[in-house]
Amino acid sequence: EIYKRGMFGNVKPTVTTDPSKLEQQAKEAMSQRGFNYIAGGAGERSTMEANRLAFRQWKLVPRMLRGAAQRDLSVELFGEKQPNPIIVAPVGVQEIFHEDKDVGVAEVAAELGVTFTMSTAGSSSIEHIGKVGREKGGRQWFQLYWPKSDDVTASLLNRAKREGFKVLVVTLDTWTLGWRPWDLDHAYVPFVKGLGCEVGFSDPAFRKGYGKDPRDPKHVTEASIAWTTDIFDGMGHTWESLKLLKQYWDGPIILKGIQSVDDAKLAVQYGMDGVLVSNHGGRQLDGAVGSLDMLAEIAEAVGDKTTVLFDSGIRTGADVMKALALGAKAVLIGRPVMYGLGIAGKAGAKDVMRYLLADLDQSMGLAGYKNVHELGPHSIRRIQYPG
Ligand code: FNR
Repeated sequence: EIYKRGMFGNVKPTVTTDPSKLEQQAKEAMSQRGFNYIAGGAGERSTMEANRLAFRQWKLVPRMLRGAAQRDLSVELFGEKQPNPIIVAPVGVQEIFHEDKDVGVAEVAAELGVTFTMSTAGSSSIEHIGKVGREKGGRQWFQLYWPKSDDVTASLLNRAKREGFKVLVVTLDTWTLGWRPWDLDHAYVPFVKGLGCEVGFSDPAFRKGYGKDPRDPKHVTEASIAWTTDIFDGMGHTWESLKLLKQYWDGPIILKGIQSVDDAKLAVQYGMDGVLVSNHGGRQLDGAVGSLDMLAEIAEAVGDKTTVLFDSGIRTGADVMKALALGAKAVLIGRPVMYGLGIAGKAGAKDVMRYLLADLDQSMGLAGYKNVHELGPHSIRRIQYPG
């Protein structure tokens, strides 16, 4: 369809189909502050770069004459079939990228059969996103920045459960924000602004402690700061604390930010349903390994006991195939979808997802695979080209 529109209609896409040009296009279209918040990484961005370099070290080995003219991209995750292995990663404060914000992305993801993950620091309420998900028949997961207060945790999880969010993604790598010079140099703290009204501030557990007029701007700021402090004071949590979390959430729980085999084994020991091999897109600990570099080891150690997912650095259909070949069941996409949102609102986010799905489908066919289950270590080879 994308080819045909160009060939016969001379219709040029609004969002570039070239993943390597997406960032530049977003830079030109977006406010500097919004763009910097997406494109930035921690420290000297060496982990962010390592995420991409890790992908370049793996090459696919194509097969021929395998009847791969028709492909089935579907996967089963936590007992549910989804038509493709793509999930939108949780991204906070999307209102600073475009007014369509997260609720718009949730809507277009549902239209494409892509699972949407809502961030605790989302720009819309849990109820608003839940409603759109139900109306559009989309699958939605909820990401938790694990608050210090059990009351707030229980309240957030009860609301998410009530709204039909199926899976809980607990982010472990962000009990404080990473050292992000691109934001620090602009004195930019997105969370306080982003929490203006619809999000944490609206949580009933929070209102308890702040029984003043919710429309008073001073109150909004106080509640936002208190909310942020509570969320980022969660560093006292331990593996044992996961037991408590299980009391509040009876559905599948995934731990996000796993980079070590030992932690993946602990996740299994503590009864976690999944691990998301991720380094937050290189936004937290700079100097850490590229996320893909840890995937194969982790999948080998725990892949038969828990569901292994992957993110950090995926840009193309071939990247998705590489992650699946190295043991991930599905992958999450962060920045590219946000660049699409910044360039052209929810239609732009949708285009980015469509192109990625089309690229994946075509790459699978060209490599001779009829479905994602056929991918494995035999599908790829590690090669270090000089330079
Ligand atoms: C994120 N990420 C993130 N993760 C999370 O658990 N909660 C959040 O609120 C956010 N917020 C957020 C904002 C922005 C602007 C970015 C770019 C990322 C991390 C995200 O879920 C994911 O791990 C990475 O984005 C994956 O790496 P790529 O695809 O961006 O390379």
